[in-house]
Amino acid sequence: LVKKSLTENLVIPDFESFCDELGKIFRETLKNNNGKVADYIPQLARVHPDHFAISVCTVDGQRYSFGDSKVNFCLQSSCKPINYCLALEELGEERVHSHIGREPSGQSFNELALNSKGLPHNPMINAGAMMSCSLIDRESDIADRFDKVSKTWQALCGDKQISFNNSVYLSERQTADRNFALAYFMREKNAFPERTNLTETLEFYFQCCSIESCTSDLSVAAASLANAGTNPLTGKVIFGASTVQNCLSLMLSCGMYDFSGEFAFKIGLPAKSGVSGALMLVIPNLMGISIWSPRLDQVGNTVRGVEFCRRLVERFSFHQY
Ligand code: DON
Repeated sequence: LVKKSLTENLVIPDFESFCDELGKIFRETLKNNNGKVADYIPQLARVHPDHFAISVCTVDGQRYSFGDSKVNFCLQSSCKPINYCLALEELGEERVHSHIGREPSGQSFNELALNSKGLPHNPMINAGAMMSCSLIDRESDIADRFDKVSKTWQALCGDKQISFNNSVYLSERQTADRNFALAYFMREKNAFPERTNLTETLEFYFQCCSIESCTSDLSVAAASLANAGTNPLTGKVIFGASTVQNCLSLMLSCGMYDFSGEFAFKIGLPAKSGVSGALMLVIPNLMGISIWSPRLDQVGNTVRGVEFCRRLVERFSFHQY
């Protein structure tokens, strides 16, 4: 970073003015109190709705945060792209996609729906995310499997400690009828690899959703995706470039639930939201942004998160097309 800044080779040379502009967008967006905190999992319903945090990290490691950027929240569905990457790295594109489609579902994230081959539509919705979980580290025991995922998040966040929220996990497991129904539906269609243990797979999925971190650290994870899988702070290669390319393509087409088409049209950037109010936004070759605000709209996306993205691309030409 020092060498790059001395030679004026930074992707955003005037980072201070850029952050001033981001601050203005942050304060404008803060005024929006629309939406409702997710209440289908009791532990999520108890999170204070007013939290708001934005953190950015460029591909050369310049960072800035606004708001509650050190407060932890659980990843929920923003864990889905990373589990998909892990499955791809381990088994390759062909094998992974013999179990998961890559089309938007056009329906809500937990809809009881599979594609015409009896497979989940894509890895960014519940059915597909459970399928990714069934593909990761199949030969290991459940503890090693979870270690693999949490170590990957640590590496993505720049070797930062990440947490696990056990009460969210338990709450998630207790209110999982829909996810079990989806899993049995997929099993009936022979969608899972042979010898898949459904209960273990679902518990692993709930554990991944219950990993916690803050926007400050998660922006580094988003920047690692923006940087083709290499962490901009540590230089560690976490995923190969083609894995990240596949992942970002599906984040663009499927990452924002049944608002994905509209988001791709208006914002033109890969993103993934979660019902905790998390939103991971990737601007390829430039920066990663992590946003957190728990109030959600009708489809389950963070209201302020979506507004921030809209204002961001109005102010800067980050739309990819
Ligand atoms: O499966 C669930 O109900 C959640 N834990 C996942 C939540 C989420 O963010 C919605 N996802 N696509």
